[in-house]
Amino acid sequence: MRPLTFCLAFVSVLALATATASGAAEPAPLQAALDGSKSGPVIDRHIFGQFAEHLGSGVYGGIWVGKDSPIPNTRGIRNDVVAALKALHVPDVRWPGGCYADNYHWRDGIGPKRNARVNTSWGGVIDSNAFGTDEYMDFIDQIGSDAYVSVNVGSGTVKEAADWLEYMTADQPTALEQERVANGHAAPYKVAFMGIGNESWDCGGLMTATEYTGEMKRYGRFVNTFNAGAPMQKIAVGPGTDDTTWTEAVMKTWKERRGWSFDIQGMSLHSYTVYDGWPPHQPAAGFDEQGYANVLAETLKMGPLIDKQSAVMDRYDPDKKITLVVDEWGAWYAPTPGSKPGFLVQQNSQRDAILAALNIDIFARHADRVRMANIAQMINVLQAMIFTDGPKMVLTPTYHVFRMYVPFQDATFIPLTFDAGTYTKGSVTTPRIDAIAAKDKSGKVWVAVTNIDPDRPAVFSLSVTGVKATKAVGQTLAAPKIDSVNTFDQPNTVAPRPVSATSSHGKLTVTLPPASVTVVSLEP
Ligand code: AHR
Repeated sequence: MRPLTFCLAFVSVLALATATASGAAEPAPLQAALDGSKSGPVIDRHIFGQFAEHLGSGVYGGIWVGKDSPIPNTRGIRNDVVAALKALHVPDVRWPGGCYADNYHWRDGIGPKRNARVNTSWGGVIDSNAFGTDEYMDFIDQIGSDAYVSVNVGSGTVKEAADWLEYMTADQPTALEQERVANGHAAPYKVAFMGIGNESWDCGGLMTATEYTGEMKRYGRFVNTFNAGAPMQKIAVGPGTDDTTWTEAVMKTWKERRGWSFDIQGMSLHSYTVYDGWPPHQPAAGFDEQGYANVLAETLKMGPLIDKQSAVMDRYDPDKKITLVVDEWGAWYAPTPGSKPGFLVQQNSQRDAILAALNIDIFARHADRVRMANIAQMINVLQAMIFTDGPKMVLTPTYHVFRMYVPFQDATFIPLTFDAGTYTKGSVTTPRIDAIAAKDKSGKVWVAVTNIDPDRPAVFSLSVTGVKATKAVGQTLAAPKIDSVNTFDQPNTVAPRPVSATSSHGKLTVTLPPASVTVVSLEP
């Protein structure tokens, strides 16, 4: 599952209990070790990116309520959601899609008169376009995030996309700059990331790899930022499976570029956790332990998937200039019964908290290549951080994991060796625990440990060298049941609780509740 340097062999894990003097059984500790003087790559904060598509109530209702709404808002953007997202230090928000991006025409969403359209990608509902470019930029400014826009390759043109970038980023008095100024935004926006289409092998136009690389060359050459003070990274469409044909085509085309041609800085990878095939039909809540184990085993395939695609990238790009951008990931289940078709509404349980932690750990272990990722999706859609219903808002278990992992943003990876143990349910076996460590810019070392096993607590015994650590303090996210959720009426069923550990015989020992995520800092 992971490089040997980060993991001891699964040793003696069947010796699960040791007898105490009182005769009670205690779980045998899982041994771990870190050397704080060792370091790996920086865990780019952009692996904690979000995704907000015009889909269901991901944008309308979830972010945008309009200036005249009784729901407290700032220029139409709901204040409760902004406050919650600020705590996550959201590095970037991918917008406006997804499949929707290849149907999106930016002019529908600027200026005093908006063009309402049917959202033909999702649910066939009316999109008022009240939330357009300027509202998106206001939103990411309010939460302190970077812009990641996906331009329309499927039903748009190179000129339309180039004009959009000029509207957003021009700092000289061009016609499009003047239009933006007239719309109330004198300063040019910064667009940190631009996606060249979305899933062009499917909803983005059912293109062949050769057809797409032709588009990638044109969009990559002619669609640019005009804001000289704000560099922009271009992200090509990448694969959505472990097939490497598409990756080969994108990387070969990039490698063969020359002269004043195009460039890209990233290639996407889309990989949802969908157990037992398409369409997603597993329940998001009300599942049993086998359902828990099946989904988590499925999500761990992210590691080998990244390894396989990275190996192809390495052949063309050994210096790892091109980022593998996992800009759609997360659990995709059967829609909540009774929810609107095409709105992709699903519950979010403690299983999803575990799933999120495992994926973040995988991205961190691949930090040299995976420097960006965007969970799908931020609010009310798929594996969301936040649910809203009119004026009500609740934070999901996944939200809490993202919050607990904030210290890992831009921290330096520290190799951690550990006895992962095993967890078995039926024919499914996974590691029992997973863990990563990193050093933040202040020099503080952080350790995140996930206990996948829903039946047994795990005693995690960490030997530390290279950094002074007499105790560890932090938070644990556990839940009464594996399918516990937070609701508007009971919002704190799954919430982090304080945890601490003291050093004894040179080891920090912390007991991890069943099916839990724990993040601690090492204190001198
Ligand atoms: O996130 C929902 C959809 O999943 C996106 O629009 C699309 O890119 C993917 O297939």
